[in-house]
Amino acid sequence: MTQETASLSDTPAPGANTRKVFIKTYGCQMNVYDSGRMADALAADGYAPTEVMEEADLVLLNTCHIREKAAEKVYSALGRLREHKKARAAEGKEFMIGVAGCVAQAEGEEISRREPAVDVVIGPQTYHRLPQALHKARTGERVVDTEYALEDKFEHLPDPTKVIGKPRSVTAFLTVQEGCDKFCTFCVVPYTRGSEVSRPLTRLLTEARRLVDSGVRELTLLGQNVNAWHGEDEKGRAIGLGDLLYKLAEIPGLARLRYTTSHPRDMDDRLIEAHRDLRMLMPYLHLPVQAGSDRILKAMNRRHKASEYVALIERIRSVRPDIALSGDFIVGFPGETDQDFEDTMALVREVNYAQAYSFKYSTRPGTPGADLPDHVAEDVKTERLARLQALLLEQQQAFMQSMVGKTMDLLLEKPGRMPGQLIGRSPWLQSVNVDAMSSQIGDIIQVRITAAGPNSLFAEVAEG
Ligand code: 5AD
Ligand code: SF4
Repeated sequence: MTQETASLSDTPAPGANTRKVFIKTYGCQMNVYDSGRMADALAADGYAPTEVMEEADLVLLNTCHIREKAAEKVYSALGRLREHKKARAAEGKEFMIGVAGCVAQAEGEEISRREPAVDVVIGPQTYHRLPQALHKARTGERVVDTEYALEDKFEHLPDPTKVIGKPRSVTAFLTVQEGCDKFCTFCVVPYTRGSEVSRPLTRLLTEARRLVDSGVRELTLLGQNVNAWHGEDEKGRAIGLGDLLYKLAEIPGLARLRYTTSHPRDMDDRLIEAHRDLRMLMPYLHLPVQAGSDRILKAMNRRHKASEYVALIERIRSVRPDIALSGDFIVGFPGETDQDFEDTMALVREVNYAQAYSFKYSTRPGTPGADLPDHVAEDVKTERLARLQALLLEQQQAFMQSMVGKTMDLLLEKPGRMPGQLIGRSPWLQSVNVDAMSSQIGDIIQVRITAAGPNSLFAEVAEG
């Protein structure tokens, strides 16, 4: 597993005709973070980002393999890119296509077989080698690099705060953990992202401090199973995500912390204490349960009962009563009966979610769920999903409406739709429109919510 050492002679000199890259990101926040780091790696190699696909010399699809539809989208996008590549070639212009992310990891060679126009296939553990892969591909070789690299990719990527031309941001993701050892029977993640790896404490503290020094006020810790993060403190004692949050909370200038995505089994006492003690840990928790029936939870290998999940939420709410809950749900897992589905509906009514994602079960080849008997008919899945989504939407709207009249802290994040307006983030992750000056971006101000739309809120600055 040696690192490629292709010639860098075709790297344009700074200021010379820079190449442009268009990155399309599918799937979860981890992919959003990875796309950012790939953009950094490419920037160091002379590529400027563009939002316009037609301007790009390189299109990179950062893909998701979680459900069949997500994977199929990649192939239809590749079909369109192939045509674009032909047109560019007719004009004598370079156009390269890269596939990164979880489809790249899962399908590897198969992608370039199915779509020969693809120049580079690169996995989530090797994307620090993207520039080298592109140099190699430019010599006419098709590159597939999806090994689990021995070296730590984070050590081989440019410092995210030092990338020239990168817009400053007041919110940032920080990957603390990758991979998953839980093996839920429906899920491809343990296969595409590999087993759990936690990044060491000192590296995380250094990266977090750098981000804060560059203007970041809110950090979201990321991991497929973020609350399984574990490390060692300065004295060599074993610590978990709760301790990490306490340590990050001491960084001067950092105002807010969040983390996602969690597994109910890993919500330990220390993490719940962090929700009690740390005002800067935002009152919002994404805690997927997937289903409300114990029989289905068992078949999914979730390793907890519905009642344990509900009890856990009660404990968290007892220490942080204003916490908003978000979840993921799957309907139509093999063997799911009407009664099982009603159990999911009952759990949703009991918990009352501020926000949620819900999906029809999608068979993923190679996962244990695929081999289970009694797959549920598509029309039954459709009907169940519609009922669940109607209930979740009702709860989400009620949560948005409950904000009207409230006074809250707002982190001013970016320009709004109209001049003189900014969009801020509420503690509950809502977008809030308010009249404010762009020089205030990064400030936290007190606002009063005046109205609620389906996906965003409107506010006025609160007096004194
Ligand atoms: N089918 C449907 N939904 C799935 N998810 C994961 N795997 C599948 C699948 N095979 C959902 C789960 C998970 C979210 C990221 O995607 O709800 O929490
Ligand atoms: Fe997939 Fe389960 Fe791991 Fe989440 S905990 S990534 S659903 S296997």
